[in-house]
Amino acid sequence: MKRKFQPILLLGLFLFTFNSCKNETEKSENTEDKKMAEVQKDEDFRPNFHFTPEKNWMNDPNGMFYMNGTYHLYFQYYPDDNVWGPMHWGHATSKDMITWEEQEIALYPDEKGYIFSGSAVVDNDNTSGFGEDGKTPVIAIFTYHDPVGAENKEENYQSQAIAYSLDEGMTWTKYEGNPVIPNPGIVDFRDPKVTWDDINKQWLMALATREKTLFYSSQNLKEWKKLSEFGAGTGAHDGVWECPDFFPMRVDGTGETKWVLIQSLNPGGYNGGSGTQYFVGDFDGKTFTPEENMKELEEKHKFWIDFGRDNYAGVTWANVPKEDGRKLFLGWMSNWLYAQEVPTETWRSAMTVARELKLVQEDETYLVKSSPVKELEKYRSSEISKDAIDVDEKAVLLDSSDLDLAKAEVKFSIKDLQETNYKIILSNGNNEEFIVNYDHTAKEFSVDRSNAGQIDFSEKFTEKNSTAPRISDSQDLKVLMILDKTSVEMFFDDGTTVMTEIFFPNQPWTELSLESENEKFSLGDIQAYELKF
Ligand code: FRU
Repeated sequence: MKRKFQPILLLGLFLFTFNSCKNETEKSENTEDKKMAEVQKDEDFRPNFHFTPEKNWMNDPNGMFYMNGTYHLYFQYYPDDNVWGPMHWGHATSKDMITWEEQEIALYPDEKGYIFSGSAVVDNDNTSGFGEDGKTPVIAIFTYHDPVGAENKEENYQSQAIAYSLDEGMTWTKYEGNPVIPNPGIVDFRDPKVTWDDINKQWLMALATREKTLFYSSQNLKEWKKLSEFGAGTGAHDGVWECPDFFPMRVDGTGETKWVLIQSLNPGGYNGGSGTQYFVGDFDGKTFTPEENMKELEEKHKFWIDFGRDNYAGVTWANVPKEDGRKLFLGWMSNWLYAQEVPTETWRSAMTVARELKLVQEDETYLVKSSPVKELEKYRSSEISKDAIDVDEKAVLLDSSDLDLAKAEVKFSIKDLQETNYKIILSNGNNEEFIVNYDHTAKEFSVDRSNAGQIDFSEKFTEKNSTAPRISDSQDLKVLMILDKTSVEMFFDDGTTVMTEIFFPNQPWTELSLESENEKFSLGDIQAYELKF
């Protein structure tokens, strides 16, 4: 279906005069209207396609692996309440990383402690010896968090442990020799992420401590040897380092391989609170050395997987077949600043859409870009495409007669950027707006959700706008938005700058529009899809 834009000519002066004529009665009526219109709550906010547990609390993704056509996602889970509590590993499976089926709880806390974040690997060669009757073992590597030790302010309350599964991740047996890495006297000592390092023929673990990543190696997943440390004095440090991931990546379009370290931290993210930075460099089998110019480029490029406020603790899937070769990533779509207060009751928080990471070299630096996995395309139903046009001040890109903005993929571009501000706005009939400003003079994005619906649950939710640098130098700004009921994931310039943000509008968004401070601007083709699940 091809439709033409209907550019709206905003007669600024007229509107200004009109608005300022509104009297007090009208204002209070508006407040009344607003109250009455406060209809969305709890299940209304359940995403159409982002994974949520049916009930209660969820945080980090854990133990993600692929095996025999199924993607597994485990997650930090508290089944008895909608706030954080004694951690279990919940479990969900999917054939395509888009639609998920929740499974039985995989790991329960025990006398050694809660089951904190970690990873899982498929031990195809049975290096662990857990395999039986030709069954390939899957090994989960996690942190035991002893709440009593933590309460008593002991140092050694976190240690690393393993469990194995002989039925492709459905049921698990904890190893009797746990812990496999006892605590050496480090307070924050957690979130083991294990990868098979095919270059150096070893199991490789990245483990987070307060201000460093530690690397360990093993041949059998039971005995671990410390290799090296990385991070003191490098990168962001205004919080505790958590949930690392470390793997080699082919630089897109070249034969070169580099190692990427993903390292979440909380607080101290790019916009405060929770955030995930990354480092690119070389690994000699023992020590990770970041690119020399990363430090000096930090100012300009700022190396964050996602600059938005709502993508944390993300890691990649293990055992993705070589023929596929993708680095597949997913994060927790919330932020410790307010995650436990968001206005849902039955469950709390969702995961991001699964993403493909790519390592590219641009100018003198290596960048990790992301985009939604191609599997999402299978869910496109009706397509709306509109031709490029010149716009006067404001254009309505899409409205609810085009498609449901609570399950949509929208692509467009702004051509020949001028030194001015552009605003991408989601709005509803309730006078609520979610605003993404792009300031091309400062080359900076800024997201304002202070009038985007329910915000009172936490001051931190709207304390300030979140910002992100534009990294690409292109004259055209490309935008890809993945929209669900309570989130937008924005991939700018083919995923060079990414921002993920959640919101809780009182009524669904009914309009997506674009404004510029300049009188005229050019909009490229728009292509949008309603997604069907
Ligand atoms: C990150 C984190 C991890 C920890 C888990 C506990 O969000 O704090 O470091 O293992 O959550 O639920």
